[in-house]
Amino acid sequence: MKDTSKKLEWQFRPRDRRSLFLGVLIFQAAVLVAGELLVDTWIRREFSLSQLGADRLFVFRISIAFCVFTLTGLILFLASKRYRDALEDANEELNKEVTRQVRAGLSKRNALIFGLAKLADYRDTDTGAHLERIGLYVRVIADALRPKYPEIDMKWIDRIVLASSLHDIGKVGIPDSILLKPGQLTPDERAIMEKHALIGADTLLAIRSKLGSDEFIDMGVEIALQHHERWDGNGYPFGLVGQDISLAARIVALADFYDAVTSKRVYKEAMGHEETSDLIYSLRGTHFDPDIIDAFMECQFEFNSIRSHNQEQDESVLKILHLENVARQFIDEQANLRNLAA
Ligand SMILES: [Fe+2]
Ligand SMILES: [Fe+2]
Repeated sequence: MKDTSKKLEWQFRPRDRRSLFLGVLIFQAAVLVAGELLVDTWIRREFSLSQLGADRLFVFRISIAFCVFTLTGLILFLASKRYRDALEDANEELNKEVTRQVRAGLSKRNALIFGLAKLADYRDTDTGAHLERIGLYVRVIADALRPKYPEIDMKWIDRIVLASSLHDIGKVGIPDSILLKPGQLTPDERAIMEKHALIGADTLLAIRSKLGSDEFIDMGVEIALQHHERWDGNGYPFGLVGQDISLAARIVALADFYDAVTSKRVYKEAMGHEETSDLIYSLRGTHFDPDIIDAFMECQFEFNSIRSHNQEQDESVLKILHLENVARQFIDEQANLRNLAA
């Protein structure tokens, strides 16, 4: 996507500047000639040459010329300044409008992407709320890592929060019999399950090939492809080691793991925060990046409160009620709009 942050500006082009300068000169010369003719006629009518003297007449004419140049120059300077101010105001408005349009376009794109990711997530979680929690965990970890990683700024954090929702988008390509199997997967089934990383990356690369290079999509590809890689090289699909795994994927790997372990699934019960923290700490330097585990240990309170705050929504009865409320609200809004239009 093109860099839209570059400021748009209307300026005088060199050719316009030359034309303007020439125009000013011609205008001043015309005013001077006309002024001289008028003054000359007036002088000849009022005074005789002997009365005024040739030197004084010359000085008088030079003074008139100087006044004409100064006055017309001043008028043109003020006029061009006013024109420039008007241009600057128009530029500012234009920039604001472009920024508004770009933001509106990005919000729509982000909402659609999150919706698609959520659709994929519904297949193996009860609620699809997994992605919302992952986004919250990722924000906390990324924020804690900021002092050590200069590339992490607010834009980067916003990007990873949304891109994290794409981590399991490839699960749409995995059969239900494997994705929803309550027991252990066989080696063959596991091999198929592991394909979701490649399927997700391939899906996003297809979008990238249409859209062109884009920081958000690129990060989404890295996360989808590498979120099951391990720091010690024992992950999949490529067995990448350490910092060869992108920082974004390393962060999402931890958030995904924490959320999977602390959530109830059809095939397992949820584990508590303390127990999960101990488990994660035991995987420092093997499964997970030590820096990220250190950041996680600093953010225990935030992780636990996100987990407990969002746990209620995992109760399927409450979730169905919530879905019903959302659907009912939408139907009411549509009915109101139709009534207003009628
Ligand atoms: Fe995954
Ligand atoms: Fe996940």
